[in-house]
Amino acid sequence: MKKITIHDIVQFKKAGKKFATITAYDFTTTQIVEQAEIPLILVGDSASMMIYGYDTTIPISMEEMLFIIRAVTRASQSSLVVADMPFLSYQTSVKDAVKNAGILIKRGRAGAIKVEGGLQIQKQIKEIVGFGIPVMGHVGLTPQSFHQMSGYKIQGKTPKDAQKIIDDALAVEDAGAFSVVLECIPEDLAQKITAKLSIPTIGIGSGNMCDGQIQVFHDVVGLSKNPVPKHALKQTNTYATMFEAVSAY
Ligand code: KIV
Repeated sequence: MKKITIHDIVQFKKAGKKFATITAYDFTTTQIVEQAEIPLILVGDSASMMIYGYDTTIPISMEEMLFIIRAVTRASQSSLVVADMPFLSYQTSVKDAVKNAGILIKRGRAGAIKVEGGLQIQKQIKEIVGFGIPVMGHVGLTPQSFHQMSGYKIQGKTPKDAQKIIDDALAVEDAGAFSVVLECIPEDLAQKITAKLSIPTIGIGSGNMCDGQIQVFHDVVGLSKNPVPKHALKQTNTYATMFEAVSAY
């Protein structure tokens, strides 16, 4: 099967074709995602909680990310794999950002990277793209700013906050990103940004008007023991099925 490229993802928007994106963190579940023909996989730093058991996305390191990115890219044949850049791997300087993005592509074998933020990291995005590494942006609720946001909350509810998210999304596009995640913002704001941008928007907890949607794998299959977020599109309870199987054994 043909390998999906960033060109294909941008074309989805031009053709008005909505698309699914899902996280993956290991070889076996990536095979499931591949067989389901989901075009875009994110090795998210949500692995910090889902795989490594930390309480937020902040503690996960480059080494811990690389470990799982390599497992995912070994299983991925046609989906485009995007590797999330962990906290402090790109915020500190443009040089750090380019180097660490390069490591995720070179050693992780990912096809693109994702960073959180807009205007604040526009220089980093520009430079990473300039060196030939595709970038996915991420604005709205940015989980690496957990402490600054005082927890996970819907963002962009006031006109001033909404305008900041619009400006951030435009900055990401302007810097050369091929797509942008809109996390936990009101649906009408997501719709407005989607109309303004020529690159695809990928929503999570931001309604149904984005070009694509992204979900966390463990939420979709009900693999986690913890309750899923309100926006999770949970399809089954794999935790219970696995528990029954292991208990029966
Ligand atoms: O790390 C992650 O899983 C993400 C998605 C929720 C967008 O960033």
